[in-house]
Amino acid sequence: MSISEKILELAKRRGFFYVSSEIYGGISGIYDYGPHGTLLKRKLENLWRKYFLSLSDNFFEIETANIMPEKVFEASGHLTNFVDPVAKCKKCGTFHRADQIIEEFLHENFEGKTAQELTQLIKKYNIRCPRCKGELGEVSVLNMMFPLEVGAGKEIRAYLRPETAQGAYVNFLRNFNILRMKLPLGLAIIGKAFRNEISPRQLLLRQREFTQAELQIFFDPRKLDEHENWNEIANYKLIILSGKKLDKLTCNEAVKKLKLPKFYVYYLAKMQQFFLDELGISENKLRLRQLSDEEKAFYNKIHFDFEIELESGWKEVAGCHYRTSHDLSGHQLVSGKSQEIFHDGKKFLPHVIELSFGIDRIFYALLELNYAEDKDRIILKLPAKLAPYTVAVFPLVNKDKLPEKAQKIYHELKQHFDVVYDDDSSIGKRYYRQDEIGTFLSITIDYDTLKNNTVTIRNRDTKKQIRVKIDKLVEEIKKLI
Ligand code: GAP
Repeated sequence: MSISEKILELAKRRGFFYVSSEIYGGISGIYDYGPHGTLLKRKLENLWRKYFLSLSDNFFEIETANIMPEKVFEASGHLTNFVDPVAKCKKCGTFHRADQIIEEFLHENFEGKTAQELTQLIKKYNIRCPRCKGELGEVSVLNMMFPLEVGAGKEIRAYLRPETAQGAYVNFLRNFNILRMKLPLGLAIIGKAFRNEISPRQLLLRQREFTQAELQIFFDPRKLDEHENWNEIANYKLIILSGKKLDKLTCNEAVKKLKLPKFYVYYLAKMQQFFLDELGISENKLRLRQLSDEEKAFYNKIHFDFEIELESGWKEVAGCHYRTSHDLSGHQLVSGKSQEIFHDGKKFLPHVIELSFGIDRIFYALLELNYAEDKDRIILKLPAKLAPYTVAVFPLVNKDKLPEKAQKIYHELKQHFDVVYDDDSSIGKRYYRQDEIGTFLSITIDYDTLKNNTVTIRNRDTKKQIRVKIDKLVEEIKKLI
């Protein structure tokens, strides 16, 4: 069984995620999160919020609509450029994403190639339909946005947003004024994005409805080569893919050797620190990869992807994008409303650096990278701050006043930690269940508890148990996590 198959089993068994509307067969690429998945996802989102919003006093979170009028995407360029190459099988009629089936065949990345180039490659290597081995037709392009007709007379043409970012751009001027007209200004959105993926696959990695956490940082382009906190990260080493090998470059070296602006590199460093220090991803599983002109998104001048190594290879989970004034100038042109600001004695259009994260991909990576087996035990070794529950409380048996004592402890601990009460089946089964959910510590209330007011704390990863006094329990748990 592959790890992804094991993860899917675990995810269904323990309520992390599963196919949405499953009783009707579901739709591929659309998933629901169960109770434990939702707890983990919220913790991940909250960690992201806390970390990125505290980078500056002028960074704020906003919540914007999922449905946006067509004009927004005319302005942003998504109407014409947000397309994927598609090849239809002449025999079974299945649609495939052309660059991906070629990539699977030739083990090379073909993102960014034109439809014509991809058609030629399919012909040259006689690449057939992965499903029925039938002949593939000419490659064409398909816009990935979901169109909507809004209103009783379906009179308003709109789309489900394909990225959260546009919500921040159409809100920029209003918020710049509300927030006392200071730059850099950060507007963060955590929310759903929708894309009609041609070949949704690999569980949560390529979905049609997914969650993004994006921070748009609006700044004065004259200040591109500086950052007020530069010294903090000047000698911090970035893990950058250079050719086929990894290079560790200090931020100072990245500026000099790769000719990158300081304002941009500062955020590359902060993004890397988030993955390593906050999410506990190990250094050898993370890399930064600069995208070529062919590969990078149509709105970017500089584009680095953050990739995590999974069983299925290196997967993009986030990106640091220098979008210049691409979006604000588009909105200015299409809406006919100036988006310029007056700042530091000059009138100009701010530029944007976008920190863009796919929450579901990171969620999945956390499951895969923390999945472990120990004989017949499955353990999710999530960092304590991400585990759905920090602590589980068990009465040894459901009699002799043990449940009453356990309930009391449970309610006390709830004031400090995320706690679950579990009194179902044997203690062994309860440990097994909590290990699979990733619960960091398990506390058992037994007959000694009634005699001397002590309980046992069991560590998820080592299975070691210690006995502590109840009045020292909160302190002891804080130490352990
Ligand atoms: N606003 C910029 C933007 O949307 P992107 O590279 O298209 O950039 C950002 O998407 C992140 O969203 C990706 O790095 C990835 O983690 C996530 N993402 C993109 N498409 C996805 C999909 N179909 N399913 C799940 N996550 C996806």
